[in-house]
Amino acid sequence: MTKIQFELDGKQVEAINGETIWQVAKRQGREIPHLCYSPEPDYRPDGNCRACMVEVEGERVLAASCKRTPSVGMKVKSASPRAVAAQKMVMELLVADQPARETSHDPDSKFWHWAEKVEVTESRFPAAERWHGDARPILRELVDHADLLFAEQRDIALILGRSFEDVPAAEQFRVAGTLALETFSRLKRIATTVRVQRSVDEHELSAALLSREGLRTTRTYSIGRIIDRIGSGDAFAAGILHGVRTQLEDQDCVDFGLAAAVLKHSIPGDFNLVGIAEVQNLLRDAGFTVRR
Ligand code: FES
Repeated sequence: MTKIQFELDGKQVEAINGETIWQVAKRQGREIPHLCYSPEPDYRPDGNCRACMVEVEGERVLAASCKRTPSVGMKVKSASPRAVAAQKMVMELLVADQPARETSHDPDSKFWHWAEKVEVTESRFPAAERWHGDARPILRELVDHADLLFAEQRDIALILGRSFEDVPAAEQFRVAGTLALETFSRLKRIATTVRVQRSVDEHELSAALLSREGLRTTRTYSIGRIIDRIGSGDAFAAGILHGVRTQLEDQDCVDFGLAAAVLKHSIPGDFNLVGIAEVQNLLRDAGFTVRR
C-alpha cells in the first residue's frame, strides 16, 4: 500500500494507493463540488466540467481535484476564495443554459443539488445562442466553408449521413476523409488524434492528417501519470494551425500538433503553456515516453 502525505485545507492528510485529491477530501468528510465525476465504482474522472477546482500552493492555475493526484508535501486549498470563486463560476455558466429549476426535467438532479450548495441558482450570463434544426445540414454548411477540418470518421459519418462501419477499422479515417475531400471542394486537410485509454491516467496518443496528397500518420506516444487532458484537443489544433501557418510539410505538421497535445497532458489547466522550442524538443526525442 502506498501512502502520500500532503496538506488539505490546513490539515495533514494521507492519500492511499493513488487516491485523487477529491477522494481524499471525501474520505476526510470535506465536500468538493463535482458534476462530471461520480465516486461510484468504475467511474472514470475525465476532468471535463471543472466544478471541482482547487488551489494548489505554488501553481499558477487551479487543478481539477477529481483527476489530480497529490504529491508529497503538496498544499491544497479546496475552499479558498479563489477555488470557491472558480467553482461558483462554473456553476453560474452552466445555470445560464438551464431551464428554470421548477420547470427543469429533474429539479432534484445532482446539478441542482450542487448549484444550491454553492449558492448559485441564477446567472448573470445570457443563455448561449443556439443553432436550430437538424445538425447535419448545419455542419455541412460550416464544413463547406472550411479548408481545415478537425474530425474523425464518426464526425465525417454524421456530416455525410453515411456509416463507415463496413470499412475495416484501420481504414475508416482514410476512407471517410477521402470522401469528405471529394465532397467539400475547399477542404484541404482533415486532422484527428487517436486515443487509446489503458487506464485513467495511462493513455496512448497518435494522430493522422489526410490531405489531397495522401495520409500522414504519426508515431504513438505512451503518456503516463496524466496531470490534465483537458485542452489536449485544443493543443493539437493549435499545433496543426501553427504547422499550416508556417507552411510545414503535412508530416511535420501532424507530428508537431501531436507533440503539442502530448505535452498538454503534463500541464494543469486549460492552456498549453509550452513554447515552440519545447514541442520541438519532444519531437527530437523520438524514444521519449512522456511522464510527469
Ligand atoms: S468533477 Fe468535473 S472536472 Fe472534476
